[in-house]
Amino acid sequence: MCGIIGYIGLPDRTKNVLYSGLKSLEYRGYDSSGLCFIEDNETRVVKSEGKLENLNKKLNKHKINSSVGIGHTRWATHGKPSEINAHPHTSGPISVVHNGIIENYSELKDELIKKGYEFYSDTDTEVIAHLIHDFLNSEFSFEDSVRLAFERIEGSYAVAILNQNEPDKIIATRRFSPLIIAQNENECFLASDIPAIIPYTNKVIYLEDNDYAILNADEVLIKDMDGNETTREVKIINLDPVMVEKSGFRHFMLKEIHEQPRAVFDTLRGRISESMDSVIFEELDLGFLENINRVVVVACGTSFHASLIGKYMLESIAKINAQVELASEFKYREPVLDSKTLLIAVSQSGETADTSEALSEAKLRGVKSLGITNVELSKISREADYVLHTKAGPEIGVASTKAFTTQVLVLYLFSVFLGLHKKSISKKIARQLIKDVISATKLQQTVLNLDGEIKELSKEFYHYKNFIYLGRGVSYPVALEGALKLKEISYIHAEGYAAGEMKHGPIALIDESMPVVFIAPDDEVYYKKLLGNFKEIKARGGRIIFITSNEEIVKMLDKDDRKIIIPKCSNLISPLITTIPVQFLAYHIANLLGTDIDQPRNLAKVVTVE
Ligand code: AGP
Repeated sequence: MCGIIGYIGLPDRTKNVLYSGLKSLEYRGYDSSGLCFIEDNETRVVKSEGKLENLNKKLNKHKINSSVGIGHTRWATHGKPSEINAHPHTSGPISVVHNGIIENYSELKDELIKKGYEFYSDTDTEVIAHLIHDFLNSEFSFEDSVRLAFERIEGSYAVAILNQNEPDKIIATRRFSPLIIAQNENECFLASDIPAIIPYTNKVIYLEDNDYAILNADEVLIKDMDGNETTREVKIINLDPVMVEKSGFRHFMLKEIHEQPRAVFDTLRGRISESMDSVIFEELDLGFLENINRVVVVACGTSFHASLIGKYMLESIAKINAQVELASEFKYREPVLDSKTLLIAVSQSGETADTSEALSEAKLRGVKSLGITNVELSKISREADYVLHTKAGPEIGVASTKAFTTQVLVLYLFSVFLGLHKKSISKKIARQLIKDVISATKLQQTVLNLDGEIKELSKEFYHYKNFIYLGRGVSYPVALEGALKLKEISYIHAEGYAAGEMKHGPIALIDESMPVVFIAPDDEVYYKKLLGNFKEIKARGGRIIFITSNEEIVKMLDKDDRKIIIPKCSNLISPLITTIPVQFLAYHIANLLGTDIDQPRNLAKVVTVE
């Protein structure tokens, strides 16, 4: 995934802008990093393995007096995390940083080796530096060498390039991977994402696919790959830098769990009619939804789990045929889509390659599309026909929490909106559904007060090596989500199952060493069935954590079992409530195990490669 940054301007700002920029992009990859500067027509490269702090220790030994530099924080795709494989990569006067995957790098590498270029890393990126250097050696200008090189390169990339013989500029280009540029007086910036630029300006330009930009200290030129100048709209970003701080919490994840009532409130704001019996989505023109008789939702990871909950809502409220697909599988399958299908792409970052590729595939086939993302102006926001934004605010912790609940909320509101539009529900039912969801913020606040209790409970469970999470109906995806959260941040193996599925195999795993977490809000439909599954597990010696609003359960628990009592709520909004205890459980277990909760190993917040 990686994060790239570039700066040209005032020498006394270069090092700080680059290093703090990388710090704010660290959620995109954190297994190694590097920076390079041009000083006295010499390229100075500083790289290190591991966290950015390691790079900072090295940087502190360097007095840097340069007005231009580029940097990179890495999530390894080609070549293991190491100092050699860390970016920038160089060839002669050229140095490059890259986010993405060069798909034809091995054939280009073979060609360049035949020409005598020596490769020192296992990365695909090093090819870019040698290829540009090769065109330079053929007497092409720096700009033309970059253009000609990217005519040959296939794959996804956001790249920044320096030439030590032309220290007055940075050239940058992108295809599929995000790249933003910005300008202030006497200085220009480029980065993979907003947090690296927002401390300096909120006016940014999103480069489009196959654009390249030439950044000088006082000018930015944008061109297409034929060298023709083009212009891109300057976008104003409404992001308060304070929102990306920990505000006294030990981890971003814990802060973001506690922010959920505010995130739900902000996402609800302006969405409910004064008469409280309809949902307002000015972004959507109803004509767009005419004739839609099927919804296909594509997403990955936590967003996939939120989408699975959305399926229950779309079916039971809007009475529409709804399917949820893993985006990474969807594009390469032969999905049957037609003009009556609506494709919904759900993504916190709006940049996930698997999901944006599934969206592009559907668009190619003339299918209407709706994006649900948490990042305005993200790729999916810009490419979907219509977009609904969750208002969770910046989510920094790699393990998604508040974005999940706001995605579930928007899918709920969209189901009511569609249900009213298709007359599958009355205003009376809509009023009740809206009343239920408005109560969610208060109920969430109550559940947040369980933080301390779940912290204590976790002390009894953090030593287990495996966990099973069970739920039925809308709680089944919450079980999947609970298991994912625990896996992601504590590295403990965990599986989520539909509780009814246990007797068809997984129940063989049950013994006293396998804790089972039940997500069992007391509802009319599933609770009784779940009690049956509870007894099946108890009969085989399983140890249980029971999350429910039915206090009666206490009588059925053994001394080693534990309960987490949550407030009563309607079945369809229960995921907004039941998800918080499983987030806390994962958080406190990981905290006891001392793992890197905000930046778990092997993960990154934004997955921009397929
Ligand atoms: C969730 O905690 C993970 N970070 C991951 O599964 C994530 O949900 C997935 O990569 C999808 O990301 P997106 O919502 O930004 O598309």
